[in-house]
Amino acid sequence: MIEITRMTRDDVPEIAELEKICFMLPWSEKSFHDEMANNLAIYFTAKDNGKCVGYAGFWNVSGEGDVTNVAVLPEYRRRGVGSSLVAEMIKTAEKLKLEILTLEVRKSNAAAQKLYEKFGFEILGERKRYYSDNGEDAYIMTRTFTPKG
Ligand SMILES: CC(C)(COP(=O)(O)OP(=O)(O)OC[C@H]1O[C@@H](n2cnc3c(N)ncnc32)[C@H](O)[C@@H]1OP(=O)(O)O)[C@@H](O)C(=O)NCCC(=O)NCCS
Repeated sequence: MIEITRMTRDDVPEIAELEKICFMLPWSEKSFHDEMANNLAIYFTAKDNGKCVGYAGFWNVSGEGDVTNVAVLPEYRRRGVGSSLVAEMIKTAEKLKLEILTLEVRKSNAAAQKLYEKFGFEILGERKRYYSDNGEDAYIMTRTFTPKG
């Protein structure tokens, strides 16, 4: 069964390996340790019987959530793990009363765009040549929250 937990330093070595599998420009293990020490950063790990199979996180900066990454091991994709991670970030953003969650995604990454759209993110802009490996543009996708009450 997939469980979503707050990421801890114990998860970092496995997450750094997962990162290498999932991204062309992977973050180093040190970057994840730095994120664990960053008070603005909130990360979640998806676990299957204790094995790290995905992660997602954002920075809480002045009422705005900046999503840094969402990733799921290839053999666990299309089983709702990415959705569970995004749902957890949205629930947390609501608890923190954030106004928006925002992120960048490669224009070619239709899978991730679909996932985000499913959770109410909309394309609100783009950043030209955002990715340094191939000079690809990014879409800026944003999920806004309506204040309750
Ligand atoms: C993007 C990613 C996180 C999705 O994770 P996932 O666990 O497969 O997502 P889910 O199973 O919850 O899928 C949710 C929805 O996203 C869309 N989706 C996911 N993968 C898709 C694909 N390969 N093609 C088309 N749509 C896709 C579908 O709408 C899907 O809903 P459905 O399965 O009911 O049709 C995963 O593909 C991944 O890790 N990719 C590499 C890293 C990456 O690009 N991260 C995003 C950086 S911005």
